[in-house]
Amino acid sequence: MEQFIMKGGNPLVGDVAISGAKNAALGILAASIMTDEDVLIENLPDVNDINVMLEAIQAIGAAVNRIDRHTVRINAEGISDVTIEDEYMRRIRASYYFIGALLGKYKSARVPLPGGCNIGSRPIDLHLKGFRALGARVDIERGAVSAHAIDLVGSHVYLDKVSVGATINIMMAAALAEGQTIIENVAKEPHVVDVANFLNSMGADIRGAGTDVIRIRGVRRLHGTEYAVIPDQIEAGTFMCAAAATRGDVTVRNVIPKHLESISAKLKEIGCEVVESDDAVRVIGKSRQTRTNVNTQVYPGFPTDMQPQITVTLALAEGTSIVTESIFENRFKYVDELSRMGGVVKVVEGNVAIITGVDKLSGAQVAAPDLRAGAALVIAGLAAEGYTVVDDIEYIQRGYERFEEKLACLGAMIEKVDSEKEARKFQLKVG
Ligand code: EPZ
Repeated sequence: MEQFIMKGGNPLVGDVAISGAKNAALGILAASIMTDEDVLIENLPDVNDINVMLEAIQAIGAAVNRIDRHTVRINAEGISDVTIEDEYMRRIRASYYFIGALLGKYKSARVPLPGGCNIGSRPIDLHLKGFRALGARVDIERGAVSAHAIDLVGSHVYLDKVSVGATINIMMAAALAEGQTIIENVAKEPHVVDVANFLNSMGADIRGAGTDVIRIRGVRRLHGTEYAVIPDQIEAGTFMCAAAATRGDVTVRNVIPKHLESISAKLKEIGCEVVESDDAVRVIGKSRQTRTNVNTQVYPGFPTDMQPQITVTLALAEGTSIVTESIFENRFKYVDELSRMGGVVKVVEGNVAIITGVDKLSGAQVAAPDLRAGAALVIAGLAAEGYTVVDDIEYIQRGYERFEEKLACLGAMIEKVDSEKEARKFQLKVG
C-alpha cells in the first residue's frame, strides 16, 4: 500500500498553486448531465473523487472526453440508464448528486444509499424531503433510493439543518421543475454558489445562492456551457495551516481570499502574519504562536473541513486551545494518531477537543482515518522532529491533487513510497 514518508523540521517556504474546488466540481459534474448539449468544464482538480465521478457519468451512457487533467467535455445525450451502480456509491458519497440531476432531467433516478463514513452517520433525509416536496415519489428499497415523478412542481422547502448536499441536490431537481421553488435555511458555502452559477450558465434561473434563501424558477430545458470551477477553499486552508505549523512562509495562489477569511482570522489570532492580495494569501508563521479557540460552523464560519488542520496547528501553539466540532458527530478520530506523535489533545463529550500546546511533536507511524485528518497528520509529520509515515493515503488522494509534490516544492522532505525498500532509500537520501 502506498504511504507518505517524511522527515519533519523544514519550514515550508514558497508559492503553491491551488487546484479547483473538489466539492464544487462534484456537484457541477452531476449537473452537467442535465443537458443534451456539450458541457466543457475547466479547472477540475485531478483527484480520485473527480475521476470516480467521471467514471460513473460514463457508466450511465454519457460521453466523457478528458481533454487534459483539469479539463473535460461531457455530452449526456447518450444517457440510457438512470441507475447508478452500487460500486460508485461505495467509492464516492457524492454519487447521491445523481438523484437530483437525473430526477430533474429524466424524472427518474435509482441511486444506492450512501453509507455512513468515518466522520459521522451523514443521513440524506433532507435531500429526500426536498425531492418529495417537488412531487417525486421517493422509496428506499434494497439499499437504494428510487425517485420518480410524473411532473416536478416548484415548492417551498425548509431545510431543518443547513446541508451543503441537500441544498445542491434540491437545487438541481428544482431547476427543471414547473414554477417557483423556494429553499430556506440553505448552505452558503462557496461551492454551493459555484454549482448555482454553473446551472445558471446552462440557462437555469437560480437566485440567492450564498444567502439563506434560494429562489429557483424552473425552466423547460438546460443548454450546454463552458465553465471553470472556483479554487478549493479547503486545499488553500490546508497549506495555510501547514505554513503556520512548520513556522514557514507560504503564499497560496489562485485563491479567492474572501473564501478564506475565517481561516486567516484564526491564524492571525495565534500570531501568524497573514497578507491578502487579489488572488493570493501569504501566511508567515512565527516561532511563538499562542492558543485560541475554534468552533466549526457553516459558511462563513470556520469550516468543519479545516478542523483537523487547525487542531494540529494549535497542538504546537503555547497554551490551551479548545476546538468544538459543531457539524459532524465523530470527527476527532485522528486525535489518537496525533497523540502517538506527542500531541496532547483530550476529546470530551465527543465533539470538544481540549488541546495543550507542546514545544515539539515527534515523528511516528500513523494512519489517515479520513481525507482531512489525513492531510492534518501530514502537516503534523512535517512539523515534527524525525520521520513520520502516514498510511492509508488513498483517503488523502481523494481530495488533494499531487499533495506530496506540492509540499516538496515548498521544501518539505516528503515522498510517496510503495515499499519498505523505497522508504529506506528515502531515509538514506535525506539522512
Ligand atoms: C459536504 O458534505 C462536503 N462534501 C463535506 O466535505 C463537508 O464536510 C460538508 O459538506 C460540510 O461542509 C461534499 O461537498 C462532497 P452536509 P455533505 O449535508 O453535503 C447533516 C470533505 O472533506 N445532514 O452539509 O454530506 C449531516 O449529518 C467532505 O471534502 C442531515 O442530518 O454535508 C451533518 O451533520 C467531508 N441530513 C450536517 O447535516 C441530511 O439530509 C452537514 O452535512 C444531510 C445532512
